[in-house]
Amino acid sequence: GNNNLNAKLVLLGDMGAGKSSLVLRFVKGQFLEFQESTIGAAFFSQTLAVNDATVKFEIWDTAGQERYHSLAPMYYRGAAAAIIVYDITSTESFTRAKKWVQELQKQGNPNMVMAFAGNKADLEEKRKVTAEEARLYAEENGLFFMETSAKTASNVNDIFYEIARRLPRA
Ligand code: GTP
Ligand code: MG
Repeated sequence: GNNNLNAKLVLLGDMGAGKSSLVLRFVKGQFLEFQESTIGAAFFSQTLAVNDATVKFEIWDTAGQERYHSLAPMYYRGAAAAIIVYDITSTESFTRAKKWVQELQKQGNPNMVMAFAGNKADLEEKRKVTAEEARLYAEENGLFFMETSAKTASNVNDIFYEIARRLPRA
């Protein structure tokens, strides 16, 4: 088969959860303490080599602010993969992430590879959501789960790599 794959990937989650920071870390290897809130959505691309294949991710980094919610379907429609992001220091962001999962389960591509990312794992002292609770939720809903930190880079490349590994091959 063809070893070069293009994959549309969308990031969804509450404002401030760290979607843009995860993308910036993955694509540019950078982190900003004062990352600006996304307006509408932003596009990035990045290529990953996985075993004998090359996956070119076409990444839509959506805006978490509620007023942009109605735009989301444009970005998740036809997406091969999604990363649903919450902030481990915010129970509201965890609740919001579960709502996104429900929406994708109802309206998204049924074969979508879904990753559940508990971001800001470096802020252990402020943790409000246990890894156990999130892992259980992810298991029950057929997502794979990782805690990440855009700040320290922990698990950031890993989550994209794991998505690439799980994408159906042509
Ligand atoms: P919207 O664009 O409004 O939806 O937000 P977002 O999900 O893109 O969040 P963004 O990446 O803008 O990050 C929000 C804030 O959290 C920024 O000040 C980041 O510096 C900070 N942040 C993001 N990821 C991490 C992380 O892993 N650890 C820590 N400590 N801070 C983080
Ligand atoms: Mg953003």
